[in-house]
Amino acid sequence: MSESAYPPVSAHLDDVEAAEAEGRRKMEWALQHMPILQSLREEFEADQPLDGETIGMAMHVEAKTANLVELLALGGAEVAITGCNPLSTHDDVSAALDAHENITSYAVRGVDDDDYYAAIDAVLDHEPTITVDDGMDMIAAIHEDHPELIETIVGGCEETTTGVHRLRAMDDDGALEYPVFAVNDTPMKTLFDNVHGTGESSLATIAMTTNLSYAGKNVVVAGYGYCGKGVAKKAAGQNANVIVTEVDPRKALEAHMEGYDVMPMKKAAAEADLILTTTGNRDVVVDEHFDQMKDGVLLANAGHFDIEIDLVALEERAVDTYEAREGVEAYEMPDGRRLNVLAEGRLVNLAAPVALGHPVEVMDQSFGVQAVAVRELAHNGAAYEPGVHEVPDELDREIAEIKLDAEGVDHDSLTDEQREYMGSWDHGT
Ligand SMILES: NC(=O)c1ccc[n+]([C@@H]2O[C@H](COP(=O)([O-])OP(=O)(O)OC[C@H]3O[C@@H](n4cnc5c(N)ncnc54)[C@H](O)[C@@H]3O)[C@@H](O)[C@H]2O)c1
Repeated sequence: MSESAYPPVSAHLDDVEAAEAEGRRKMEWALQHMPILQSLREEFEADQPLDGETIGMAMHVEAKTANLVELLALGGAEVAITGCNPLSTHDDVSAALDAHENITSYAVRGVDDDDYYAAIDAVLDHEPTITVDDGMDMIAAIHEDHPELIETIVGGCEETTTGVHRLRAMDDDGALEYPVFAVNDTPMKTLFDNVHGTGESSLATIAMTTNLSYAGKNVVVAGYGYCGKGVAKKAAGQNANVIVTEVDPRKALEAHMEGYDVMPMKKAAAEADLILTTTGNRDVVVDEHFDQMKDGVLLANAGHFDIEIDLVALEERAVDTYEAREGVEAYEMPDGRRLNVLAEGRLVNLAAPVALGHPVEVMDQSFGVQAVAVRELAHNGAAYEPGVHEVPDELDREIAEIKLDAEGVDHDSLTDEQREYMGSWDHGT
């Protein structure tokens, strides 16, 4: 594998051996609860489906992702990885990955913008044949700065909603030059990871970061998509009064029919004890809303980028800012109100100091789909035209079957007659 001038994680750590040991311990705990990746490990180690591939990855580098990375390496690939968010990397896990002979990890927590992009370039120096992104920063870097790599890239996978949106926009412009699977859009990912994963982990992280309760509080959820639904349901389950803001009338109606209060952000901001944005859109909480907020309000984001809360406007308004607790920055308004921003407005369940990301079981599913999508690219990549592709349904079903098996859950199957009936149009009354 080619090398890069940008140093891997070990160059940034004082005690590399201790970091590797702790990272490995975290990975082993996660793997114990990842039956899908365990099952795929047996298959990948035996069949070596990724032999000869070099996989470039930009993902949240923590214990669960690390087990996906190791699975790909055990399947025969060379892997180079960096983070997809400067605050979500666990350096010890990054070090444990880097210790693997077929893996190089450039991910380091807290890097500035220059180093964040230098690390992506370092991964690209390995000349990947397959890319795996979470947010599309790597695919963007390839198309903008390293188009010479495209010829030898078989395809890519994208993990999250925002990345898939960006890819579709690129595809619509005719600018996407290799096939990419929208892993985010599979039922095995979206219905579990976005809904349950984001719901559970965002609320757990906010509670841990603030040491505050949800009971009796007004929790404003901005966006009632997959993530927003999960957050709303789980906040209600912890006895919060949930308020939803939406721009899509059908989603707003859905939230209303679910029993939540629905109102514009301008009104909701005045009611909120916590505002959690989950839209994937920019400027959701802005200057005019800061006027309305109560003293002590918590502001957090679970969307992919830190663009949902306008921190520049908040900073301009503030007469003072200070760290109120680890992971909580207080902005003091001229009238004395304190507005508290968690994790710098970055996705709170991964970027807060105590954040652990989604529960392990949920990521086992998402990464199971990633692994078989990568396997499909290695086997059949040439069959896919440049552009965004759905992951073939049988691959998603394969992951569901492995999980049900592991849980000891049996289920019915269609009979031949039922399959024929469902596929026909000529059976009337
Ligand atoms: N934190 C995590 O771990 C995690 C996990 C999965 C996805 N994500 C990210 O969360 C974001 C949302 O993902 P999703 O799958 O729920 O997407 P989605 O498209 O299902 O939902 C987004 C919702 O926000 C609404 N919306 C857009 N602009 C709005 C605005 N200005 N005000 C109110 N509502 C608005 C849309 O109408 C839509 O209903 C994306 O950025 C995605 O990448 C984060």
